[in-house]
Amino acid sequence: MAAAKYRSPRMRFLNGHDFCHYVGLGTVQNPDEIGPALREAIDIGYRHIDCAALHKNEKEIGDVLREKTTIGTGTIDRDDFFITSKIWGTNLHPDKTKESLDNTLADLGLEYLDLLLIQVPFGLKESDEHFPKEEDGTFCLSDVDYVDTWKKLESFVDEGSVRYIGVSNFNCEQLQRLLDTPGLRYRPVCNQVEVSPYYVNEKLIQYCQRRDTPVVAYAPLGAPARPWVQKGDPVLLEEDIVKQIGKMHQRTPAQVVLRWGVQRGYAVIPKSSNPKRLADNLHIFDFSLTAKNMEDIAALNKSQKAYGFEGARKSKNYPFNEPTHIEEGGAAIM
Ligand SMILES: NC(=O)c1ccc[n+]([C@@H]2O[C@H](COP(=O)([O-])OP(=O)(O)OC[C@H]3O[C@@H](n4cnc5c(N)ncnc54)[C@H](OP(=O)(O)O)[C@@H]3O)[C@@H](O)[C@H]2O)c1
Repeated sequence: MAAAKYRSPRMRFLNGHDFCHYVGLGTVQNPDEIGPALREAIDIGYRHIDCAALHKNEKEIGDVLREKTTIGTGTIDRDDFFITSKIWGTNLHPDKTKESLDNTLADLGLEYLDLLLIQVPFGLKESDEHFPKEEDGTFCLSDVDYVDTWKKLESFVDEGSVRYIGVSNFNCEQLQRLLDTPGLRYRPVCNQVEVSPYYVNEKLIQYCQRRDTPVVAYAPLGAPARPWVQKGDPVLLEEDIVKQIGKMHQRTPAQVVLRWGVQRGYAVIPKSSNPKRLADNLHIFDFSLTAKNMEDIAALNKSQKAYGFEGARKSKNYPFNEPTHIEEGGAAIM
């Protein structure tokens, strides 16, 4: 196989240890599309793959990992990769998490994950469906406490089936609660949350960065193909300012937006199944945005999420009621 065309550097913890690569591959896509996309991505040089049981395509991802890496017939060392997966809300009960992790490991064909995340802080009723619904269309909630899920995840680190554990979609208070719970032996190493110029999420990012908890940004391009997109919704990659800045640096709008993310100090996991876009999205480490560019892009903020998990709004652990802005004098940052 030819040498990878592009490489992403890795994030580092304050102690110097390597964490995930700054650019990873998002994998929200149909099982029949993910195989060719992942094959192409690995050939281009992607080594950070963001999976989730929720995507229902981990078997197909596993097939490609077996083909390309030393876990199967391939030549790329498995240890070159950083592979994440997640426990979905219906499996947060400590009696369910092990089964969920075992299914993920079997599907991906891996002995260990680099990172396992609690995908959402709110529990959903155990079900074969990922989104069990009440008659009014809201999600069937469970009162499972994510601290109990966390204790179970700690045992996975001890037994060696995951290297790191972290959270996703947690707000500052929820993270702080985990940090403050007596007797926990591992702190969350990362918080994977939505961040894009339409949802700059400043307060949470600063909160995490001050605690050496790297942020991984999902939907970094604004998730333009989300199934619930409405006609007339603004399209991030078509914003004039993004195009102008792209022209200035001879880059595509997506490259500008992703570069804006990594320059703010977090990792980004754009999804693409298009070979040219996959390459573009990884090719962002040979230019820099100016301070003015950074400000102009941040000014696009609408505090509008692409993924609101609205059906879980009644859960006491629904995470998106906190303000996303920093209040006067930084008072809102704990
Ligand atoms: N933790 C969580 O709860 C959570 C929630 C949502 C998502 N995620 C993760 O985050 C990943 C990314 O989020 P997302 O897939 O929703 O949104 P996204 O990465 O912001 O946007 C993906 C869309 O942008 C298009 N695109 C990609 N590169 C492009 C480029 N260079 N130029 C123009 N268009 C481009 C893609 O189309 P093409 O494929 O046609 O290029 C796709 O329609 C997911 O795949 C998933 O792994 C996590």
